Amino acid sequence: MSELAVWNCAQLVTLAGPRRARVGPEMRELAIVPDGAMLVREGRIQAIGSRAGMERVVSANAEIVDAGGRIVLPGFVDAHTHAVFAGTRAGEFEQRVEGTTYAEIAAGGGGIRSTVRLTREAGEADLLAAARRYRAWFLRGGTTTIEAKSGYGLSLESELKILRVIRQLAADGRLRYVPTFLGAHEVPDEYRGRIDAYVDLLIHEMLPRVAAEGLAEYCDVFCEPTVFPAAQARVILSAARALGFGLRIHADQFTPDQGALLAAEMGAATADHLEATGPAGLAALKAAGVQPVLLPGSVYHLGSTRYPDARQMIGLGLPVVLATDFNPGSSPTASMPMALSLASTQMRMTPAEAITAATINAAYSLRRGDQIGSLEPGKLADFAIHDCGDYRELPYFFGREPARAVYVGGTCVYNSPHFY
Ligand code: NIG
Ligand code: FE
Repeated sequence: MSELAVWNCAQLVTLAGPRRARVGPEMRELAIVPDGAMLVREGRIQAIGSRAGMERVVSANAEIVDAGGRIVLPGFVDAHTHAVFAGTRAGEFEQRVEGTTYAEIAAGGGGIRSTVRLTREAGEADLLAAARRYRAWFLRGGTTTIEAKSGYGLSLESELKILRVIRQLAADGRLRYVPTFLGAHEVPDEYRGRIDAYVDLLIHEMLPRVAAEGLAEYCDVFCEPTVFPAAQARVILSAARALGFGLRIHADQFTPDQGALLAAEMGAATADHLEATGPAGLAALKAAGVQPVLLPGSVYHLGSTRYPDARQMIGLGLPVVLATDFNPGSSPTASMPMALSLASTQMRMTPAEAITAATINAAYSLRRGDQIGSLEPGKLADFAIHDCGDYRELPYFFGREPARAVYVGGTCVYNSPHFY
């Protein structure tokens, strides 16, 4: 029987608490065990407690992991990523720095469609190699589960190719993946001006095939008047729901309320972005029990100052989630510590609220709150040792990757070479 004993944690940040996403003042309660220890058997957490209490229950042949007086956290759950794509958009980045907007680049045929062209051309092996490189970046930040969207194929074969790459990435267990079908990320070049024909392809061919092959758990739509307006988004999401997909929506990134209202109407699990959402949209999310997913990395990288109103959302009792939105256009970062920093400095989320949003609340948004997102007996042993003495240092020291070591299901999947 494999047994692991994690010792010498300055703070064991457990997030133990009610078996649901946390709201309001609960988001500040991290259930920290000072000088904590954790016992892991067969990949699951067996016991949590003070070091003194745990010394009595650990068996003689347990492998000892000495946290060295650092903090130990549940692995981050990054609930919104676009982690499989070919190429970069560093050229467009330079254009944006010089003054062209993201919308202008998209209208000119660049943006998402430029990544689609490269991704369609790429072979499965090349896509897999690129995605493995990015996977190492997620691990380096202390992330152990990501939601991963397709959406850079926009044809049946290319979307299936991306989802199969996600399946292959998940197979070796180094990082957990939750796959989402995002065929409605943009209208592809060959369907320009024929959005309804593309919607037909989505609902009659792509969604049924993805469902039949069991390649995705969720369906997402980029709902925006210039991309998929609410009327088309509703048709796609209704078809997805009928096939058993959970729903997530790119909502109100640039334009108010349509996306949030649709997420509420459809009973989506999450409404993501929400930079432009006003009081009506937020009230609808609250009434319908939709979780907001905030993506400050995309606001930062696009050079905007319009961050979502996290304080208002927390005040309303919404179970806020924080994610990277890792993608080549609007948010090229896989770093949850960076998202935590932006959450605190730009959205005034306290370090504790940000950590709750990045772990247990994110896990519930992916229907995995009973397995991951907190360190509690019975749950999977997904955790990270971070080079801090206090959890508040995670968003405070910014621009570094603090993870010392990362474990998925009790197995070490990352060990930083930069520590002694
Ligand atoms: O979440 N807004 C739509 N999708 C991505 C951007 C994708 C891209 O620019 O490639 C986002 O920000
Ligand atoms: Fe996104």
